[in-house]
Amino acid sequence: MNELDTLIKGRSIAIVGAGLVGAGWALVFARAGLAVKIFDANPVIANAAIPLIEQQLVELQAHGLINEPAADIVARLSLATDLADAIDGAAYLQESILERVELKRALMEDLEALADADLIIGSSSSGIVASAFSSGLKIAARVVIAHPVNPPYLVPVVEIVPSAETSPQTVAFVSALMEAVGQSVVHVRKEVEGFVLNRLQAVLLREAWALVEEGVASCEDIDKTVRDGLGWRWSFMGPFETIDLNAPGGIADYAVRLGPLYRSIAASGKHDQQWSDALIGEVESQRRGFLQRGDLEQRRAWRDRKLMALSAAKRDASE
Ligand SMILES: NC(=O)c1ccc[n+]([C@@H]2O[C@H](COP(=O)([O-])OP(=O)(O)OC[C@H]3O[C@@H](n4cnc5c(N)ncnc54)[C@H](O)[C@@H]3O)[C@@H](O)[C@H]2O)c1
Repeated sequence: MNELDTLIKGRSIAIVGAGLVGAGWALVFARAGLAVKIFDANPVIANAAIPLIEQQLVELQAHGLINEPAADIVARLSLATDLADAIDGAAYLQESILERVELKRALMEDLEALADADLIIGSSSSGIVASAFSSGLKIAARVVIAHPVNPPYLVPVVEIVPSAETSPQTVAFVSALMEAVGQSVVHVRKEVEGFVLNRLQAVLLREAWALVEEGVASCEDIDKTVRDGLGWRWSFMGPFETIDLNAPGGIADYAVRLGPLYRSIAASGKHDQQWSDALIGEVESQRRGFLQRGDLEQRRAWRDRKLMALSAAKRDASE
């Protein structure tokens, strides 16, 4: 018996919310060999999910990123008629509905009434902590944040964030499941809005908006700084390892050499974080000069093909 069989014991995975992220999760679990039932409150989105995943699998196959025919993976996907059908026979539910606390709370209340006593629930929430929508419910012990990056079938990291009521068994189960389906688990030890990933992203975005507002650089030059600079290393190492290698004596040496510069930059920040309408208009107009609104979808597909090529290159280069 492999790790997944031990965890899932022949049961299925329920995907609730099948938009951008939910459909990506369905692909992750089906690709790993699990039966997946998909439910979305919007029938148009639900009906579009499997054809979309099929198309993504064909592209993954073309990049050599799946180990069996796309059709065999698609055969493990099915649409559920409602929430009760989605969770019937499921060991794990990945919630990916809208990022609104009252909707997530209403779903948890429905699950409290419907779910078997052992269904484990992971939420894709980008920043709302689990206690905000599960607190006080009997199922709270079985609810944990499992926050992915979009699209989860191409970007492996998942942040596991328990609430004070989440049981250690739930954390252990979801961590093991995520590792077994090929994701890369990050443990966030305390509930904090935005978790780790979006807090790091927030710092970069805060500075990016401020640099445009202050006329320091254009949006394109800021994107270029990350695309052709910082991002090169970030695709295979993080900020701490980056600076550990950037001073002859390692990170402590780096802190001595450049600590005062970073302290001074932090002290000079005066942007109040209000993205004004004028600033948003300016950034929007600069971006539309490079990409028309009608071309966003096409560019998303281009991004995903780039990520597939990167995945293939990383796989080939892995030691
Ligand atoms: N888009 C991203 O980059 C990203 C990344 C990581 C996490 N997330 C998080 O994932 C979640 C989903 O985001 P998304 O970008 O996929 O949004 P989305 O709008 O593409 O999809 C949300 C889907 O949920 C469905 N839905 C709403 N209420 C429902 C309910 N009660 N039952 C079943 N379906 C319901 C909607 O019909 C919609 O199709 C959010 O919490 C979001 O913050 C998003």
